[in-house]
Amino acid sequence: MTIQEIKEQTGKTAVEALVKSGMKIGLGTGSTALYVIRHVGLLLQQGVLHDICAVPTSFQSAQECYRSNIPVYALDSPCIKGRLDLSIDGADEVDRNLFCIKGGGGALLLEKIIAYNSDSYCLVVDKSKCVESLGLVFPVPLEVIPEARVPVTQALEKRGLRVTVREAVRKVGPVITEHGNILLDVLFPKPVNPPEWEAALVQIAGIVESGFFTGIKPTVFVGDESGKVENLCR
Ligand code: A5P
Repeated sequence: MTIQEIKEQTGKTAVEALVKSGMKIGLGTGSTALYVIRHVGLLLQQGVLHDICAVPTSFQSAQECYRSNIPVYALDSPCIKGRLDLSIDGADEVDRNLFCIKGGGGALLLEKIIAYNSDSYCLVVDKSKCVESLGLVFPVPLEVIPEARVPVTQALEKRGLRVTVREAVRKVGPVITEHGNILLDVLFPKPVNPPEWEAALVQIAGIVESGFFTGIKPTVFVGDESGKVENLCR
């Protein structure tokens, strides 16, 4: 199977296992989450699912919902009232405790707000995303207020982290998030405790959120090249 086929298979499996008619669902961002959204759209079109209300986690996710004819709402709309039954999203790295890193696509802030306001949370990944320790190879993205870039960088470097400003492609300067902030990608020199770091990073003035997601227990669907999709729970 190609990597795209693995992502599609994993996304479809998660939707068929978890999404039920009448649910309020959060829909994620990235190349794997796109397959989740498309499959929800297909099942709605076929009449297998009905009465789904969705909250997208980014511009990309919203556009895919529109294309798939999935009814889209804001988290604060009267229909959603700030709470979702389930959210499904991709991830960049997942460890054996099912803690993860997200934000490779730059959408971590809304992704986290939606994840942490969901009764259940599901990640869909291919096997290459499963790692021993988070943040040693794939950097942890931090959403940072632009004016705080220098002091935040100094504070992180003092703790031994390697910090890179995420640069835009086909635009001069940094990536600006959908919330008007910049992204700092940080690599850790040695294995760390993700829940401790998730709590500590937002204590640094100017860091809005980090890409460590440890505050909600996910079900993780892991696809591999044989076509098998494994379901991991903590
Ligand atoms: C978006 O900001 C990210 O959190 C994505 O969910 C994550 O990067 C996974 O994306 P892929 O499924 O494209 O690897």
